[in-house]
Amino acid sequence: MVHNPDQQLQQEFNRWAEAGEGEKMENHHLDITNKTLRLMDLKKTDRVLDLGCGSGWAARLLAKAAGEVTGVDVSDEMVKQATASSKNYANVKFLWGSAQKIPSADNSFDKMLSVESFYYYADQDAALDEIFRVMAPGGRIFILINLYKDNEYSLQWVHLLKVPVHVRSAAEYMAMFEKHGFKDAAWKQIPDDTPTPDDYKTKSFRSLDDLKAFKRVGALLLMGTKA
Ligand SMILES: C[S@@+](CC[C@H](N)C(=O)[O-])C[C@H]1O[C@@H](n2cnc3c(N)ncnc32)[C@H](O)[C@@H]1O
Repeated sequence: MVHNPDQQLQQEFNRWAEAGEGEKMENHHLDITNKTLRLMDLKKTDRVLDLGCGSGWAARLLAKAAGEVTGVDVSDEMVKQATASSKNYANVKFLWGSAQKIPSADNSFDKMLSVESFYYYADQDAALDEIFRVMAPGGRIFILINLYKDNEYSLQWVHLLKVPVHVRSAAEYMAMFEKHGFKDAAWKQIPDDTPTPDDYKTKSFRSLDDLKAFKRVGALLLMGTKA
């Protein structure tokens, strides 16, 4: 039985993990994540949080350029898979927990990446408070999402999701960042330049042209700094 939103998310994403969807997401998110990694200016001393880390592929990419990486996810199955696939990475660890109650001490991270996860958080205000708490002063956050109002093509697949989500605009997110004390709040659209084969079968979009347009408009990258 599901008691609260985090348990509902845990159950749904455990189901994704068991169906092998965690690993598959790398194919869909790699291009936009690589472009974001280039903007993160990672240093060998950086302590990095990967929030909503899924199967851990992005945490492993981060680990090649950063000092230490901590992946956090509300799905214990995702955390289990991420831990198993990252045995050879001495500087990566994964923790089970919610974005609304991050299992880390205050001021623990210099950078944060979150890929395709933020719009699922039932209480995004509580999550931003938690992110603020665990970031070190001057720490930079990078939240990348594919579902947002300013990419109208993304709205085609909301009804296919089995858990509630937030659909906001870049301007609305900027106001939230400012309300939660982040400075230098900024956003950018990150197109997905991976080619779409002509015989690609999409269940999420009305047509292949709509999928291509969605990728051309791109994901929303939200950035901010803990004051
Ligand atoms: C679409 S998947 C993306 C996973 C990974 N970042 C990737 O790109 O492959 C969304 C992830 O966010 C996690 N998630 C959803 N709500 C969460 C919450 N409240 N706290 C932490 N993780 C959450 C899910 O369990 C899932 O692993």
